[in-house]
Amino acid sequence: MDEPNGSIRLGSENFDLPVILGTEGERALDTRTLRAKSGFITYDEGYGNTGSCQSSITFINGEEGILRHRGYSIEDLAAGSSFVETAYLVIYGELPGKERLHGFTEAIRSKAAVHASMNHHFEGFPIGAHPMAVLSSMLNSLGAYYPQMTTNNREQDLAHLDETAALLISKVRTIAAMTYRMQKGLPFVFPLEKEYTEEFLHMMFSKPHIEYVDECGAAKALDLFLMLHADHEQNCSTSTVRMVASGGANLFASVSAGVSALWGPSHGGANMAVIQMLEEIHASGDDGTRFIEAAKNREARLMGFGHRVYKNYDPRARILGKSAESVLDRIGIDDPLLDIAKRLERAALEDEFFISRNLYPNVDFYSGIILKAIGIPVEMFTVMFAIGRMPGWIANWKEIAENTKSRIHRPRQIYTGHTLRDYVPVEKR
Ligand code: CMC
Repeated sequence: MDEPNGSIRLGSENFDLPVILGTEGERALDTRTLRAKSGFITYDEGYGNTGSCQSSITFINGEEGILRHRGYSIEDLAAGSSFVETAYLVIYGELPGKERLHGFTEAIRSKAAVHASMNHHFEGFPIGAHPMAVLSSMLNSLGAYYPQMTTNNREQDLAHLDETAALLISKVRTIAAMTYRMQKGLPFVFPLEKEYTEEFLHMMFSKPHIEYVDECGAAKALDLFLMLHADHEQNCSTSTVRMVASGGANLFASVSAGVSALWGPSHGGANMAVIQMLEEIHASGDDGTRFIEAAKNREARLMGFGHRVYKNYDPRARILGKSAESVLDRIGIDDPLLDIAKRLERAALEDEFFISRNLYPNVDFYSGIILKAIGIPVEMFTVMFAIGRMPGWIANWKEIAENTKSRIHRPRQIYTGHTLRDYVPVEKR
């Protein structure tokens, strides 16, 4: 939706620029022609005020704490949907009917196994390799087994998209489980074509002769965790996926780059950092008070708090906070980390430092407590985020690939280095 009524004044000159309107009333000044017209570029380090694309996948209103996928609220999806159904919605734009959902579920179910020769790739990693390093490498390597899906020719890659999407959503979970077992020196376990999260838990925790039994609803809790991570518009890893895709790269290469971007502690790595922070607070005998003071004095960062877009409670954190309590209740665990987390949250929400900066719990604040309760080791937490985010990465890759007008992403810069200098041969330096 375009409205040709924007204008910008630079010095004594006015430049007319179109305004772009989103379906939820968001407005953008379209500056694409500004440099050609005026010689100016726009400068926005960190892209806090830059729209990099028009997208119809996910809507966030950070001031009001709203998150919707394809128009459906995250609260409704959390109450009624599943990870696999939400994945379909995010990728294809509509809730599937019974038959389509069945077909998509079966496509994912039947693709869990990886080529036997991939076992040798795993053997090449040292014990102690970070699971995110392994996941990123293995997803890119996976593409090597599917030359028809990695042509880097958009029409051909798109012609295989349904298969590639189901394959990635399925195998990312197998690779994650294999990574864990490799680290523990355990033999790999073959998939049994179970429901999505049951299959993952089986591949993680079954023994060759004893099948894992889910006695406390771990599969359901995990399904909710994954669903709440399914997409989150133009975050660091999704923007990375779009950036890589914009150059024409295939889906395997693009999501592998997304995993690398997710790894950092300001992004997906925060879920590991939260548990490490809570464990340190617990071990030091602090009830959270000293830590809050340290965060205010900028000696520490309250991990799992704050968000670039949400200036209100992250709706995913609200859902996960409730779920954490019920999961621990069901399992019968009394985790002191949950008490510390709740105390930190209460203290922060009443403290001027956090209030004035609009710092609220984000999705990572409670998610680690759930993952820990169902037996996922801390070093695997960000991998779990990656499994959940796969549908969002796929949907964003698809949006770029299907847009015949999309251009390679190539920001400009303001150069601040030396001006022209004469080259001096090494013997004269
Ligand atoms: N603890 C203490 N102070 C904070 C925090 C925090 N977690 N987050 C922001 N602040 C302060 C910051 O010091 C700054 O204060 P001042 O204006 O006085 O210098 C102000 O709030 C604005 O912070 P910012 O770093 O400029 O904000 P940002 O939008 O660049 O960063 C963030 C957003 C998520 C990286 C940041 O809030 C953070 O580091 N949070 C902790 C890490 C975390 O939980 N990350 C997960 C994000 S949600 C899931 C995901 O995207 O993967």
